[in-house]
Amino acid sequence: MLPSQSYNTTRYIRTTSFKSESDYFMQFKSESINKLSGLIKGLHHITLVTSNQEVNRRFYTEVLGLKRVKLTVNQDDIYHRHLFYADEKGTTGSAITFFEWPELPKGEIGLGSPHHLAYTVPRIDAIPKWKFWLSSQGVSVEGPFVRGGRISLYLRDPDGVIVEITTPNTDNISSEYIKELEHLAPSVSEITQEMKLTTFDHATPISSDHDLTERFLEKLLGLKSSTRTNPDQEGTTILEIGNEDRSDFLRYIATPSARDGFVGKGNVHHIAMSVEEDEDQLKIMRRLNDTGIGNSGIVDRFWFKSLYFRDPDGNLLEIATKRPGYTADEPLEKLGSKLVLPAWLEPSRQRIEKKLEAQDARSSGEWPPSYPLLKSPPESLQN
Ligand SMILES: [Fe+2]
Ligand SMILES: [Fe+2]
Repeated sequence: MLPSQSYNTTRYIRTTSFKSESDYFMQFKSESINKLSGLIKGLHHITLVTSNQEVNRRFYTEVLGLKRVKLTVNQDDIYHRHLFYADEKGTTGSAITFFEWPELPKGEIGLGSPHHLAYTVPRIDAIPKWKFWLSSQGVSVEGPFVRGGRISLYLRDPDGVIVEITTPNTDNISSEYIKELEHLAPSVSEITQEMKLTTFDHATPISSDHDLTERFLEKLLGLKSSTRTNPDQEGTTILEIGNEDRSDFLRYIATPSARDGFVGKGNVHHIAMSVEEDEDQLKIMRRLNDTGIGNSGIVDRFWFKSLYFRDPDGNLLEIATKRPGYTADEPLEKLGSKLVLPAWLEPSRQRIEKKLEAQDARSSGEWPPSYPLLKSPPESLQN
């Protein structure tokens, strides 16, 4: 078993590399481990760190058009909020969630601290509309670019998180078409239906060892892989990880020269993938235990069950169940409208609310925020 590390969602600032422990992962280079396939269905949610819940709420609901589907606390750090935003129904794979940790320093992208996440829009013509809309809201936006066979825009949220907005798979896009798209300047005064962000397209952790990460995810979770070049940075490759239906819901940026990152404000804390049934999650836990990979065990999060572990570079991954979902304790139309707590925290409600109020009094956020700039090229590790 790996030496003790944090596998739950308490704050965790990465200070040491997992490389010294990589012997544990070398077994995945052996052919003798059987594959476990077909259990992972795609992404479930992605969790990040924000400095201010009000600025965060305004950005993700008013600027990106998502709905807050849960306002609660971090179950491993109960005096700090946990905010969930998703599509109207809280569909699996649409929820971006944030721990509010105002006292944390700004994080740094690197090993253990993923680079960016991407949301899908339903149609290509949503891209110029998004560009117009985001610019009109004062957000600095780069693109469109063709990345991974899709057309993408890139921006940073008020905390500096890199968010990509991308189209469904559109192989064989001509450069003329992109030029045409750039010249369209549709004026939009709201987020229209065809602009709506749907589910995640991919998340992008960083790997220092392409082959080891590939074997780890193939052998441990039965996922499939392929490799593309990264047009944004020489010497790096994109390791695409997916399943039969979706070939690349994880797109690792891989390079032996990747440096350690740490998770702070404006960074991805962990990436959750979904399984259909509780039994599938148990199978994965047994696999982790059999191969000596440290993990959290099954944790009941009330809206789903979670299992946490780290990949060879220390990126925190989670396997989450689809059920019971965000409507387990609130009707659809009321989702996210008030602070909800799992039953075991209800006795502490008063104390929790007091502490949150005190936290709010200490950290005021300005609106509109001054948006951090994104360097181009967007998927470079320099960002
Ligand atoms: Fe991307
Ligand atoms: Fe999670």
